[in-house]
Amino acid sequence: MAESGAAPVPVRDLEELRAFAESFAAALSPGDIWLLRGELGAGKTTLVREVCKALGVPATRVVSPTFTLVQEYEGGRLPVVHIDLYRVDPGKALDTLFLEEVFERSDCAVFVEWPDVALGLIPPDARELVIETGPAPTARLLTRRPFNPSGVTG
Ligand SMILES: Nc1ncnc2c1ncn2[C@@H]1O[C@H](COP(=O)(O)OP(=O)(O)OP(=O)(O)O)[C@@H](O)[C@H]1O
Ligand SMILES: [Mg+2]
Repeated sequence: MAESGAAPVPVRDLEELRAFAESFAAALSPGDIWLLRGELGAGKTTLVREVCKALGVPATRVVSPTFTLVQEYEGGRLPVVHIDLYRVDPGKALDTLFLEEVFERSDCAVFVEWPDVALGLIPPDARELVIETGPAPTARLLTRRPFNPSGVTG
């Protein structure tokens, strides 16, 4: 199980982000669920891509799931399911069945971008990875913390 509640990790550029992704991937276990927090362009998809690469997923398989909602990457040390709920309208009923099925799986690691429309479905043992930008354009601060099911995520 990847560490949660660890000290924030600053990275200066994509190369350091890659190094973070490698150690993160090494600690990842089947059944882990990570909610990815951060503004547009913070690097959520990039992080998933680098984690997949570190797990040994063939690079050509890793695409953004923005238009597909859910994408599964196989061929690495463990399967990765990448969900992006950005385009889900919060005012409309979400087809929750596929999400419930993914969250019940114990064979893969799951990453969720823009999880707020599905908070009620997310198991309480999920964790959050917050990606903050700045001060330099390629600098990021990566903070792991427990999921707060009350929805107050700070
Ligand atoms: N240190 C870094 N870590 C992550 N991404 C970086 C870093 N430096 C530069 N970038 C760039 O920032 C962009 C991040 O885009 P990405 O699509 O990963 O963001 P996102 O958080 O998934 O956005 P969205 O909410 O729109 O899905 C990429 O173009 C990436 O190359
Ligand atoms: Mg993204």
